[in-house]
Amino acid sequence: MSDWKEQVERVVRQVVAEVLSAEGDAALQDLSSGSLRKPLVAANWKMHQTRAEVRQFADRLPELSASVESVICPPAILLPILAEALGVDSPVRLGAQNMHPANKGAFTGEHSAPMLRDADARYVIVGHSERRGLFGEEDDFVAEKVKAALKAGLRPILCIGEVLAEREEGATFRVLRGQLTAALSELGAPAPDPADLVVAYEPIWAIGTGRTASVAQAGEALAFVRERLAEIFGWAWADRVRLLYGGSATPENATDLASRPDLDGFLVGGASLDPEKFARIVLAMHEARAAKKEGPR
Ligand code: 13P
Repeated sequence: MSDWKEQVERVVRQVVAEVLSAEGDAALQDLSSGSLRKPLVAANWKMHQTRAEVRQFADRLPELSASVESVICPPAILLPILAEALGVDSPVRLGAQNMHPANKGAFTGEHSAPMLRDADARYVIVGHSERRGLFGEEDDFVAEKVKAALKAGLRPILCIGEVLAEREEGATFRVLRGQLTAALSELGAPAPDPADLVVAYEPIWAIGTGRTASVAQAGEALAFVRERLAEIFGWAWADRVRLLYGGSATPENATDLASRPDLDGFLVGGASLDPEKFARIVLAMHEARAAKKEGPR
């Protein structure tokens, strides 16, 4: 597509997003609580599960609250199996764990955003710390992926987070600012639909360690992320972006974490392999939103 056509398309998308925002985008807004952001709980299965295990998972998955958007990101090869096992009426959405920013080409072992979309993925995890740390993915590559995902109609779940040494030397916010700014640097103006971007704060020291960020640590990091988004795209826009916490999230700690105003859900690794635990985290998110609605404002 030529540049000017792309620009026109983006302006039209932004105008539509603003109209929807004004009128109430029932598909995404959590209308029951008056919030502009529908809670989201996403499972990152990482390199786990076989076809048989996927079918068992789907069989054992309890009914999930419709007030929370539930997403499962299996290994890409299992996307069609998971879709089939969940069934066409399932409210659970599919996501991928990674993508290449090119649409196609000589990139052995990779999957493009249009391919993932074709496999019914609606979301894609981008910039996960395991991709950054183990596979050498840099900020500019992450930025290309965010742009390409949005262009293909996939919603990126952009992961950012600090290592323990950075936290201990007081560099957490600097790291978050740097990763966020870089990852969004390819987007330019006008901004994408805020409902299409999800940011997950995943402190690396809390991933797979059983050590979770405290409610205060998660809350202040997420508030910082929203503030930074507002600096880039304005408050009305930033207020509609969903922010997740990831890092040893479990049914046991989800309720406390979900009490933070900027936390809209979770990106769950280990606990999401167990269908009951995943469902309990979804339930915790549902209950936290209901409690916020009832509590003092
Ligand atoms: P754990 O929940 O296993 O700590 O993993 C978090 C994560 O990396 C999700 O993307």
